[in-house]
Amino acid sequence: MDRLIIRGGIPLRGRVEVGGAKNAALPEMAASLLTGESIRLHRVPQLGDVKTFIGLLSHLGASVERDDRETISLRADGIGQCEAPYQLVRTMRASVLVLGPLVARFGRARVSLPGGCAIGPRPINLHLAALEKMGATVSLDAGYVEAKAPRLRGARITFDGQTVTGTENIMMAAALADGMTVLENAACEPEVVDLAELLNRMGASIEGAGTPTISIEGVSHLHGAEHEVIPDRVETGTFMVAAAITGGDVTVNRCLPGHLEAITEKLRETGVVVEETDCSIRVSGDGPLRGVSVRTHPYPGFATDMQAQFMALMSIAQGSSVITETVFENRFMHVNELVRMGADIKVIGTAAFVHGVPVLSGAPVMATDLRASASLVLAGLASQGITTVSRVYHLDRGYESIERKLQGLGADIERVAE
Ligand code: EPZ
Repeated sequence: MDRLIIRGGIPLRGRVEVGGAKNAALPEMAASLLTGESIRLHRVPQLGDVKTFIGLLSHLGASVERDDRETISLRADGIGQCEAPYQLVRTMRASVLVLGPLVARFGRARVSLPGGCAIGPRPINLHLAALEKMGATVSLDAGYVEAKAPRLRGARITFDGQTVTGTENIMMAAALADGMTVLENAACEPEVVDLAELLNRMGASIEGAGTPTISIEGVSHLHGAEHEVIPDRVETGTFMVAAAITGGDVTVNRCLPGHLEAITEKLRETGVVVEETDCSIRVSGDGPLRGVSVRTHPYPGFATDMQAQFMALMSIAQGSSVITETVFENRFMHVNELVRMGADIKVIGTAAFVHGVPVLSGAPVMATDLRASASLVLAGLASQGITTVSRVYHLDRGYESIERKLQGLGADIERVAE
C-alpha cells in the first residue's frame, strides 16, 4: 500500500486540468450492457473504481478496451452470465449499477448486496422497490439480490428518498422497458443528466433529466454511440479548496463552473476570490479565511462529496463553523485524523463543530474513505511540517495521479510504496 509524504506550507500556484467525472463514467460504462453494439467513451479517467468496473464488465463477458489515456471502447455482445460477485461488488458499491441494465436486456440479474462502507450502510432498497414496480420479481439469497423479468414494463415511480445511482439504475432499466416510465423525486445530479445524454444518443427517449421528474419512453433496442464524459466536479472542487487552504492562486481548466455553484458560493463567503470562465475556475486565497457553516444536500445543494474537503479548510479559518452532513450516516471519518493534526472539531450527531486554529501540524494519518483521504491531503498541504497519508488506495479510487497534479502546482508531495 502506498503512502503520500507531504511537506506543507507552500502556497499552490499555476494551472491544473481535471479529468472526466468518476460518477458519470461508471453508470455510462454500465449503460454499455444495454446494447450489443460498441460504446465509445472519451475522457474516462484512469481510476481505481474505473479499473474495478472494467473488471466487473469483463467478468460478465463484455469486452472493454482502453484505446488511449482517456478513451475506452465497450461491447457487451458476449455476455455469458448475469452475476456480479461479492468479491467485486464489496470493493465498489457502484457495481450495483449493472442491476438495471442486466434485467432490462437479459431478463435477469444476480448482484451481490454491496454491504456497507466507511461512510454508511449504503442500502439499495429504493433501487429494488422501483424494479418491482416495473414488474421484476426480486428476492434476496445468501447476500445476493436476484431480479427477474421477462420484460420490464413502464411504471410511475416516486422514490421515497433521492438516490443518485438508484435514479441511474432505473433510468437505464426503463430505457428498454415496455411503455412509459415516469420517475418522481429523481436525483438531479449532473452525472444523471450526462447518463441520460448518452442513453438518448443510444436511441433512448428520456426527458427531464436534471429535474425531479424524468420521463422514459421504453424502446425495443438501443444501438452503439460515442460520448464524452463530463468533467469531475468533485476533483474540481478539491483543487479549488487546495488553492484556498494554502493561500495560493490556482486555475482549474477543462471544468464546468455551473456544476459547482454551491461550492463556489461558500468559498466566496469565506473570503476566497473565485473567478469563472465557461470552462475554467480561478481561485486565489491569500487573505484571511472566515468560518462559514455548511449543510450538505443533494444537487444543486452543497455536495456531500465536498464536505470533508471543506472541513479541512474550515479547520484553519478564523472563527467557527458548523458542518452538517445530511446525506450519509457516517461521513466524519476524517475528523479524528484532522484533530490529530491540531484541528479543533467536535462531532455531535450529524454536525461537526469546527473552531479554526491558526495552523495545523503535520502528522502521520490514515485514509479511511475516498473523500476523507482528499481532506487529509489538503490539510497536509496547509500544515507546518511533514504529513504522511497511508492507505492512499482509497484516494486512488477517485483521483488520478493527484500527487503529480499537485506537484505541478508547486506542492512538495511524493508517493512512496509501503
Ligand atoms: C452516489 O452514491 C455517488 N456515487 C456518491 O459518491 C455520492 O456521495 C452520492 O451519490 C450522493 O451524492 C456514485 O455516483 C457512484 P445515494 P449513491 O443513493 O448513489 C440512501 C464518491 O465519493 N439510500 O444518492 O450510492 C443512502 O444510504 C461517492 O464519489 C437508501 O437509503 O448515493 C444515502 O444515505 C461516495 N436506499 C442516501 O440515500 C437506497 O436504495 C443517498 O444515497 C439508495 C440510497
